[in-house]
Amino acid sequence: MECILKTYNLTKQYKEHKAVDDVNITIEKGDIYGFLGLNGAGKTTTMRMIMGLIKPTTGNIELFGEKLSEDKKHYFARVGSIIEFPGFYENLTAVENLDIHRKLMGVPDKNCIEQSLEVAGILDAANRKTKEFSLGMKQRLGIARALLHNPEFLVLDEPTNGLDPVGIKEIRQLILDLSRKRHITVLISSHILSEIQQLATKVGIIHKGKLLEEIDSEALKKKNRHYIELKVNNDRDAVFMLEQKFNISDYIISEPGVIKIYERLTETSNINRMLIQNNVEVKEISLLRDSLEDYFIKLVGSDINE
Ligand SMILES: Nc1ncnc2c1ncn2[C@@H]1O[C@H](COP(=O)(O)OP(=O)(O)OP(=O)(O)O)[C@@H](O)[C@H]1O
Ligand SMILES: [Mg+2]
Repeated sequence: MECILKTYNLTKQYKEHKAVDDVNITIEKGDIYGFLGLNGAGKTTTMRMIMGLIKPTTGNIELFGEKLSEDKKHYFARVGSIIEFPGFYENLTAVENLDIHRKLMGVPDKNCIEQSLEVAGILDAANRKTKEFSLGMKQRLGIARALLHNPEFLVLDEPTNGLDPVGIKEIRQLILDLSRKRHITVLISSHILSEIQQLATKVGIIHKGKLLEEIDSEALKKKNRHYIELKVNNDRDAVFMLEQKFNISDYIISEPGVIKIYERLTETSNINRMLIQNNVEVKEISLLRDSLEDYFIKLVGSDINE
C-alpha cells in the first residue's frame, strides 16, 4: 500500500514543554485517519508541522514517500488543508476569496472554484460576502478552499468545530464521499470520540504530545462490542474446545486465563457446560460490553477531567 504520510519521532518543543513528543504516524493511501485527542493534546501542532507551517524541533516527515525539506515544498500542491479556523477576507465573496487562493496555488482553470463550492455544498452562497457566513458556511468554504487544487491528501483540523449536529453529520458525509468517490486520503483531527469512530478507517490517539496508540477501525470496533468473558484455569484447552465444538473463531485471549468471545452470545450456558464436560474449569462466565469511551478514558487516565 502506498504511504501518503509518515512521521518519524516527530517532536516540537516550546521552552520546557513538549507539545508533540516523539510521534510516529503512518497514513496509507485511502485512509481516513482520525487524530483523536483532548484539548491541548498536540493535534494542531502536529498538523502545522506536517503542512510545513512550523519546523519540528527534531524528527522527520515523509510526504508521498519523500522526506520533507525546504526545497520540497512542491509536495504541498498535492495536499489541501484547514488548520484551525480558516480565515477569509470578510468583505470579499466566497468566489473572490477562492480566486485569491486559486492564483496562490497556481491553478489555471477558474472552473475549479465552482466545482469545489459545489462539492463542499455551498455553491448557493458563491457570491455572498463571507462576513455574512455562519460558522458552518465558513467551515464548508474552508473545505472548498482545501479542495480547490484537487488534492490527493486532505489535512483537516477539527473541521466540525462549532457546528450543530446536522452540520456535523453533513461534513462527515462530505468527507466520506471525498474518500469513497474521489479516493482522497484524509487526516482529520477531533476531540470527539464518537465523531472519529463514525468516520475513520484508522485512529491515532494523542495525549500530552504522545501518540498513545494507532489502531485500525476494525480493531477499534472490537473495543465497542458485546462479548462473553470466560475466566478459566487453562485458556489453551478452552480455546481448543471452543474452536472444535462451537466453531468459534472470533475471540481473543485478553490476559492469561481470560477469553473474550465475540460470537454465539446467546450460548453462554452451552459453552459453560461443554467446557466443564471437557475438564476445563470455568471460574466465571459473563456477558459484557466494551465501551470505546471506557477504553479512551483508560488510555488517557484521569486527565480526562482536568
Ligand atoms: N506557539 C506555541 N508556544 C507555546 N506553546 C504552544 C504553542 N502552540 C501550542 N502550544 C502548546 O502545545 C500544546 C499542544 O497544543 P495544540 O494546539 O497542538 O493542541 P490541540 O490538540 O490542537 O488542542 P485543541 O483541541 O485545543 O485544539 C498545548 O499545551 C499548547 O499550549
Ligand atoms: Mg487544535
